[in-house]
Amino acid sequence: MTFTDKNGKELLFILSPNTLPEPVRNEISNLWSVLEAFVPDVVAQGDHVSAQEGFHAFHFCEYNKYAEKGYGAPSDVHHYDLKGNKYQRQLYVSNDVKKYPDLFQGLAKGLEDTSDYINNRLKTLIPESYDRHNEYLKILPLGGNILSPPFTGMVVNIGVATDAHRDDGDEEYCVVCPFGRHRKGEIVIYELKLVIEVQIFFIFAFLSRNLTHFNLEFEGNRGSVVLQSDRTIKGFAEDRNGWGHTMDEEKD
Ligand SMILES: [Fe+2]
Repeated sequence: MTFTDKNGKELLFILSPNTLPEPVRNEISNLWSVLEAFVPDVVAQGDHVSAQEGFHAFHFCEYNKYAEKGYGAPSDVHHYDLKGNKYQRQLYVSNDVKKYPDLFQGLAKGLEDTSDYINNRLKTLIPESYDRHNEYLKILPLGGNILSPPFTGMVVNIGVATDAHRDDGDEEYCVVCPFGRHRKGEIVIYELKLVIEVQIFFIFAFLSRNLTHFNLEFEGNRGSVVLQSDRTIKGFAEDRNGWGHTMDEEKD
């Protein structure tokens, strides 16, 4: 099911559980067990949450938004000789990647079929923004993307009920896969006047920086996997965060 604005721009896709391949269903069904295996203390924190109580989120992401930019820097001086945060001029990974490596690998491995499925669906649903974004991903440094394309970030929320928000840092579409056995916890998308009752195996893709969204209180075990990309990554792809002129000299 697709929701568009008055110009035909796609705002929200709801991928039907009926067409979800069996391996993807199995992976989503197993997510709670994966978390229990690696972070039992976090999973045991309760099964009923309101937005005011907070929730736990693991961030496995590459970021570029805080990288120091080189616009206006002299091209005849090596950037290491310039004052500033010389080790923070390109992309970096979030702390949880280093703090919870086994959980990260377990989740990445446990979501391989799901990642492939979402990747293929987005390629079909939003071909233009998909291709544009993947051009940026090809240029990532330090071994490239830590996740499967087309995303640079995976956030795993446990016991999640959020306040209303937009994700200003997201590049276009983010994907949300709710999981766990729960009641209520509906997803609300304010501008579309939608309150969506979330059944297991629903997957949502939407413009998270344009649409105000949140989810309601729930009962039971509720988690979500959010796949997104840092929209400032294109700044590295296009001109290496403004350090391109310095990096060109390094090649000589
Ligand atoms: Fe969000």
